[in-house]
Amino acid sequence: MIIFIISSCTIDEDKRIADESNTSDWLAYGRTHSEQRFSPVTDIDTANVKDLTVDWFLDLPNDVALVSTPLVVDGVLYFTGTMNRIRAVDATNGKLIWQFDPDVAGHIGNNRKPGWTQSRGISYYNGKIFTATWEGRLIALDAMTGKQIWSVLTIDPEKKMGITGAPKAFAGKVLIGNGGSEAAPNRGYVTAYDAETGDLAWRFYIVPGNPADGFENDAMKMASETWTGEWWKYGGGGNAWHGFTYDEELHTLYIGTGNGGPWNPKVRSERGGDNLFLSSIVALNPDDGSYKWHYQTTPGDAWDYNSNMDIVLASIKVNGVDTKVLMHAPKNGFFYVINRENGKLISAKPFVETTWASEVDSITGRPTINPNARYDSGHVYITPSPHGAHSWHAMSYNPHTGLAYIPTIHDAVIFDASKINLNEWKMNPGKGGIAVGISDPDSLPRPYYGSLQAWNPVTQKLAWMVPHQELWNGGTLTTAGGLVFQGTALGKFNAYRATDGKLLWTYDAGLGISAPPITYKINGKQHIALLVGWGGAFAGVGNKSLGWDYNRHTRRLLVFSLEGKAIVPPQPPPYFPSPIIDNTIMVDDAVAETGRNLYWQCFGCHGANVIAKGMAPDLRASSIAINKDAFALVVREGAKVNMGMPAYKELTDNELSALMHFIRKKAHESQN
Ligand code: HEC
Repeated sequence: MIIFIISSCTIDEDKRIADESNTSDWLAYGRTHSEQRFSPVTDIDTANVKDLTVDWFLDLPNDVALVSTPLVVDGVLYFTGTMNRIRAVDATNGKLIWQFDPDVAGHIGNNRKPGWTQSRGISYYNGKIFTATWEGRLIALDAMTGKQIWSVLTIDPEKKMGITGAPKAFAGKVLIGNGGSEAAPNRGYVTAYDAETGDLAWRFYIVPGNPADGFENDAMKMASETWTGEWWKYGGGGNAWHGFTYDEELHTLYIGTGNGGPWNPKVRSERGGDNLFLSSIVALNPDDGSYKWHYQTTPGDAWDYNSNMDIVLASIKVNGVDTKVLMHAPKNGFFYVINRENGKLISAKPFVETTWASEVDSITGRPTINPNARYDSGHVYITPSPHGAHSWHAMSYNPHTGLAYIPTIHDAVIFDASKINLNEWKMNPGKGGIAVGISDPDSLPRPYYGSLQAWNPVTQKLAWMVPHQELWNGGTLTTAGGLVFQGTALGKFNAYRATDGKLLWTYDAGLGISAPPITYKINGKQHIALLVGWGGAFAGVGNKSLGWDYNRHTRRLLVFSLEGKAIVPPQPPPYFPSPIIDNTIMVDDAVAETGRNLYWQCFGCHGANVIAKGMAPDLRASSIAINKDAFALVVREGAKVNMGMPAYKELTDNELSALMHFIRKKAHESQN
């Protein structure tokens, strides 16, 4: 009897989450189970969007990178911030109801440091909020009170994996994956738990393990036939860190899988092979995790072209017939339309320049790979870059315009494996890494690095495009009011006409935007909510700071309406710190070089080339970075762990000194 009650209410809950006509809530990561991020609310439209103003806002002084999608359930807005801290507030005015801090700093092991500050979201199901913490706990909270109901560890603490993704709740279960394909010899997987109890329901590995241990299922046996050499020693990767969609109509779960680890296929699978289920969409039975079908977007991945991007469900006309499809715009630059009833490719066309493959063959469904794209003979210019033509920044789909709105990246790199000693890799398979050199090309593909692209999945053609100066822009929201909303790296929150991309409204948030907006209507008022806090793995790369500062710029939750009267204190202008000139450390180039080789552990937060991009202080301008004792206290002893600065207990005095030399060298260089 009890089982009957639980199962009947989970069915109701999935119907509720799948209901596209709901106007008052935003129940799942992509609003509904379809992940369309399309709202039927029409109050804010192309005519009146010019009058949009801030209705209420929350300053979030203890947050740094904010990249997540908030949820709205029965009048309560839930969001996750830095270090997985969750808050529940009244969705009409921001009044705090509860907050929950899973104490990530207290749980972090020594293995997983670079990037524990950001999470893309939480999920809701049957009165519970679910969060997955960076170091690997999946936690269920009571949505009313914020009290913890259960917590499970989904990652072996000895493994160098981490979680940045939102869990996915569906059909009485909650699912989470992990990331880290290149961090160590990792074998990716997703795990589903019972949403009520936290009991493990099933686990699906993405790549096969050592055949000598036996395969977990027939799918793994099939996958093993697409690998060569002793792949299991390298882990293989495939980690699913994003891209989980539940199809309520077909009772099927789709998993977007990760890239190969290491990236160089000659190391990972020495005599070639497609390497299933890397860079694929895998359809599973949600009840037991058994395999239904797969489609691989990048066979034998060599470029970090994972398929972890959103999987969006819709019905569109294919040759005039209504067809249940999924849409997917992964890193590799092709836009895929797949029949979700059988996994067959309907069409795939490039939405950016793709130098790795000329086309996807419509009969075989396989890409036609260009000569030397897998860097077999010398260096090669490859676009899209490992940033992807599209990353996790949410794509949306508007059934009224029939267009998908993609935050697009235009970037290229040079891949070169000529200096890679394959024998050395064979002798030492346990170290992780990418096994190929990458560098910036002399010229980049376009005068702009990012764009908002409106893509027609029926014709597989670009409908319109708005160029963005920077590549790392926020996800999109589209509405029946005929609008598309997007925040940009330069801190502008924009509304465009969905049919042609005309800019209709802009708001200057004064700080780079990485999160996607959401919308909901309560008490007759349509709200648009957005977290503002520049972040995400690639927000820290490059030589250029956009001036978003760790300390100076206030991270915020902004909520807009047509009747807003809130006065938001202005942000300071972009800030570019002056490096400290200090000659008490006489930079020794050889020592600084050792420091450079240690700095990879720091750049995810402190910025490439020691130029901070806003996720941590600029070390060139830090007085702590010129004081040996203070430096040791912060970097080795963990004096600032609670503020998000990890403790590097393993660093020796010489290594700390090498880091200080490297930081000084970079500080002096930027004086010139
Ligand atoms: C996960 C992100 C992260 C990583 C990785 C990281 N840091 Fe930090 N670091 C921070 C944050 C955040 C602060 C600021 C803490 C605060 O609010 O005072 C900080 C502060 C510091 C400071 C003090 C700066 C000052 O003037 O207050 C130093 C020095 C420092 N980090 C060095 C390093 C070094 C060296 C590494 C690599 C070995 C590193 N950090 C890796 C996030 C990080």
